[in-house]
Parts: sequence; structure tokens; C-alpha cells
Amino acid sequence: MNYPIYTELPIQDAFVIEYRAFSDSRGYLAELYNSNKYKQAETENLQQITLSQSKKNVLRGIHKVPYSKLVTCVRGAIYDVIVDLRHNSPTFLMWVSIVLTQSNHKQLYIPADCGHAFLSLENDTLVVYGQSQPFNPALEDNCRFDDPFVNVYWHLDIAKLEISPKDRDTALLIPDNLPKGLSPHRTRILIIGASGQLGSILTYKLQKYYQLQYVVYGTYCNNKVDTHCVKMDLNSSSTENTFSYHSLLQLCHPNIVIICAAMTWVDGCEKSQNKAYDINCNAVFSLSLEAKKIGAKTIYISTDYVFGGVLPIYGDKYMEEDTISPLNVYGKTKHRGEQFVLSISKDNLVVRTSSLFGPDKLNKNFPCQVVRKLKDNLKFPAFSHVVSTPTYTVDLAECIIQLLVHDCSGVMHLAGPESASKYDWALKIANSFNLENTLIEKVDSFPALVAKRPLNSSLANNRIGYILPEFKFRGIQDALEDWMINFPDSLDDIVNPTKSKL
Ligand SMILES: NC(=O)c1ccc[n+]([C@@H]2O[C@H](COP(=O)([O-])OP(=O)(O)OC[C@H]3O[C@@H](n4cnc5c(N)ncnc54)[C@H](OP(=O)(O)O)[C@@H]3O)[C@@H](O)[C@H]2O)c1
Repeated sequence: MNYPIYTELPIQDAFVIEYRAFSDSRGYLAELYNSNKYKQAETENLQQITLSQSKKNVLRGIHKVPYSKLVTCVRGAIYDVIVDLRHNSPTFLMWVSIVLTQSNHKQLYIPADCGHAFLSLENDTLVVYGQSQPFNPALEDNCRFDDPFVNVYWHLDIAKLEISPKDRDTALLIPDNLPKGLSPHRTRILIIGASGQLGSILTYKLQKYYQLQYVVYGTYCNNKVDTHCVKMDLNSSSTENTFSYHSLLQLCHPNIVIICAAMTWVDGCEKSQNKAYDINCNAVFSLSLEAKKIGAKTIYISTDYVFGGVLPIYGDKYMEEDTISPLNVYGKTKHRGEQFVLSISKDNLVVRTSSLFGPDKLNKNFPCQVVRKLKDNLKFPAFSHVVSTPTYTVDLAECIIQLLVHDCSGVMHLAGPESASKYDWALKIANSFNLENTLIEKVDSFPALVAKRPLNSSLANNRIGYILPEFKFRGIQDALEDWMINFPDSLDDIVNPTKSKL
């Protein structure tokens, strides 16, 4: 390991930094800053080092200054908070918190113009912070610790905290300087798997259309998302995680955790069963348990593959209460995940969906596969005996967002309105993209697939009809049209490959 280790935080340009302590029988030695190794340009120019001592339950901040800080707790422990107070930042008004202790060897890098505050968790706690300019009270532009538009969670009754008169009397943020219509105490959402097909469109919609009511945080695993997100691998054998599930939830203190992440490769689950159970069940259990501990609700995205697919008639669909009988490891792990989530809290919600498609950075979904092949004049074999209810992710994300205010629990099916075989679906895709459909070949038996597939796993949207009677999922053709009109850039890679390479 090359120390210091930098981990990006959901706040732009903010980092948690892990330093190394060299121990021997005498004690230990650690570099808290070394201009050859620390990469932040501003801290390379440290101009002041400050030591602060606090007794338990002292809260200092939220202090905003136009220079950066590097914060280390050298004795005791602090609950350290960064608030983004930069109006031009994509993460404006978001905050994160991390516990720094004398033994966890973590530091926080606070970018210039972000707010910083900490709550001392033990008596005689010592905090050292370097700053890239000398302290100048005239440059302070502080924010009150209990500002409702920032809404930091302090864990303790505020009446029990010791706060200086200066910090207590700091002015609240002025609504006129904030986005018009911004709600105080916005609901905080953590999307696990914000880099995936569904997670990314859910994040996009919440940030673009619902940012006045919601603050969104996310995680990715292999496909990096630039802001609002941290890296988190749900595979328990991973050695890359900086955060435990507990510290992830503490980082952003969500009200709602939406678990979109999964090992979704059906044949891969069959081949690597332990990994599939680890990601799709064990991690889901731990995450929803941690969520419950902080009073957050979990919404778990599940699948039509929990059903056996033996519906007798082509147009038949599974209802929420129908008998579960997964045929493959993927379906079994997702069902176990459902059971865990529902057993942890009666407030939790399981959303089952089916055959997702829509704008996706990786362009790996079914319409993308069909278009790629047909554009290259290659044959596309498609199952005519495997039926599901293709679901447009843009509609699914919108429906989930609209459900948030209804506080639903239990199991709910949310899927597209049409039952279609892969063959029928491929024909519609060819039609929408003006491609030659004679290259699509009907296949009515499984070749050497590793995992068994349900033959008809169509889902009936029964419950949602009572809760959001006006909400309509679009059929395949309308959804494809919306995708082409409203997200054309996402299709460049497959529709105009030469343009996207320019
Ligand atoms: N796709 C479908 O047709 C379909 C149908 C029914 C139900 N569902 C369910 O709907 C949900 C969303 O599906 P999707 O199609 O959006 O999935 P997806 O595009 O395959 O995305 C999967 C997400 O999970 C993350 N992930 C994968 N392995 C991980 C790991 N070890 N640790 C942490 N994160 C990990 C991925 O992160 P990185 O990309 O950063 O690695 C990504 O964000 C899933 O729960 C799935 O079971 C999907």
C-alpha cells in the first residue's frame, strides 16, 4: 500500500486520507503531512497548524473559510463534518460525516469554502489541523450548526452540546441566496449501485427534477461516478473498501436507502454462487440492518426471476402474492434478499421489476445488443418462448420517486405493461430504429445456457394501481421513442459509433 491513501467523498474535491503509523516497542511515528506525498495542491502550501483541545460533547463550527484544511484527531475521537457551501458546486449544501479517532489514522481534507464542524466524542480530545492560509476572522463566512437547509444530524440532543456563543449566534442561511423553493430538512436518499442502469437514471432524475425535496448520495463499484458517490464493493472478500456499511450510513445519514446494486449476470451467479449470495443477500441484510439502526427505510429492487415462469397462458402475469419458486441462483439470491429486507423492518419495501431497458452508460441492455448486431448486418437470434414484461427504466425511476411520499411497504410489482417474448421485443426494436428485421431469428429452445430461465415471468402491476392510479408505464415502442428523443446522447455509441468516437 502506498500511503497516504486518498478516498473521494460524495462532496466534490473532499477526501478522507489514511496515513500510516510505524509502531515499535517505544510507540509510533506517523507523517501527518508530507509535501512530497500529499497531493492536494493547496495543502502543499500549509501556512498554519492549529491544535484544538475539547471536552466531550463540544461542538465547534460550522466554520467556512476561503482556504483548505487538513484535519487529524490525535487524541480521543471526533464526529467530523464537511458541508459544501460553494454555490457553484454540484454538491452544494450536501454534508458528510466521518469519525476520526487517534487510532483509525484517518484525516479529512476540507476544500476551500466548504464548512467544517466537529463534535468531540471524548474528554480531552485533541485535533490538529493544517490550513493553507493563516487564520483571518474577517474571511469567515460561517453557517449555523443547526441550519435547516443543511440539516446536519448531530446524534445528540442539541441542548446537551456545548457550543460557543459565537457559533450559536451565527446567522442562518438566507433563503433568497438558495435555490428558489428549496425545502428545509430535505429527505436524504442513498442509492446503492448508482452507477447501474436503474441506479443512474434514478440519481439523474432525483438530481435534475427533485433536488428541492431530496438530497442524493450514491455508491458505485467498478464504474466510477464522479460526484455524490463513494466506492463500495458489496463483495465481502473485497479489500478495497474504505467504509464499512456502518460508516457508509454514518457518512451521509440517509432517511431512505435504495438498493439497486446486485450481481445481475444470471449465468455468472450460477457459476459463482458464493459471490452471488454474498452480494445479493448478505450485503443486503447488513445494509438494511444498518439502515434500520439509524431509522432509515430500505427499498430493495428485486426481480421477476423469483417466479418459476410456469404461467399457463401467454398473457398471464404474476401478482405480488403469487407463489415464489426461483429456478436459478440469481432468483434464489434475490428472493433471500427480499426476505431479509422484509424481516428487518415492516416499513421496508421490495420492488420487483422485469427486463430493464433505457439509457445506460454501458449500453449493455437488450435493445442495445439488438441495434448493434442489426447495424452491423449480423443475425440476431432471439427466444420466442421466453416472455417477460420489458420495463423502461425512466418510468420505473419516476414511479419509485413518486412512491417515496406514499411510504409504502411490503412487496410491489413495477413493470412495463406488455408481455413480450425476446423475439417480439427485438422486432419492435428493429422497427423503432428503422433496421432490417429479417436478421432477427426465432429461437424456441435454450442452447447451452448455464442457468435455467423462467418461461413467462411477466409481472402484473396490481398494488401500484391503487396507490398511483394515474401512473402509466409506457409500452415498448413509446419507451424506445422517448429514449431516442430525450436521451439521444446515450445512444451515440451504438447508433452513431463514428460520431461518439470523435
Ligand atoms: N436488468 C434487468 O433486466 C433487471 C430485471 C429485473 C430486476 N432487476 C434488478 O434491478 C436492479 C437494478 O438492475 P440494473 O439492470 O440497473 O443492474 P446493473 O446495470 O447490472 O447495475 C448493477 C449495479 O450494481 C453494482 N454492483 C455490482 N456488483 C457490485 C458489488 N460487488 N458491489 C457493489 N456494487 C455492485 C454495479 O456497480 P458498478 O457498475 O459500478 O460495478 C451497478 O451499480 C438489480 O437489483 C436487479 O436485480 C434487473
